[in-house]
Amino acid sequence: MDGRDLDKLVEKALSVHRNSYAPYSNVHVAAAVEAEDGTIYTGVNVENASYGLTICAERAAIAAMVAAGRRRVVKIAIVADTPEPLPPCGACRQVLAEFGSRDTLVVSVSTVTKESRVWRLGELLPYAFTVEHIRENRGSDAAP
Ligand code: THU
Repeated sequence: MDGRDLDKLVEKALSVHRNSYAPYSNVHVAAAVEAEDGTIYTGVNVENASYGLTICAERAAIAAMVAAGRRRVVKIAIVADTPEPLPPCGACRQVLAEFGSRDTLVVSVSTVTKESRVWRLGELLPYAFTVEHIRENRGSDAAP
């Protein structure tokens, strides 16, 4: 792992942190994903008065990556104004597994304490459910 690469990704996440829309939780999160070719895409959490419609920063960043035509995540940085580095929620871990691998690096930084944590996706989501588990079944319910 190259620490400078992670620093750059964290800087990218910090550059959009102020755009987080979190009037309900007051937890402001931003994320930056690095695709296989080195390009970086950012996202922030976007809350809603209908709370359940909230979009997490990580999934917003991945959606931006996919919209740009990239399909592989090699690293993700998360920044949040929480006392501890924010670990990605379960839904975001699952979406990361779709476009990443067990080796995908996840770095998280608290903007309050500057504390950071680094994980591999395989630690955060062991036994991930992936396309490999449904490959045999796909299409079997298709109308004749
Ligand atoms: N949130 C994220 O953006 N990413 C996560 O992985 C966990 C939670 C957001 C959702 C909500 O806007 C706020 O943090 C508090 O849950």
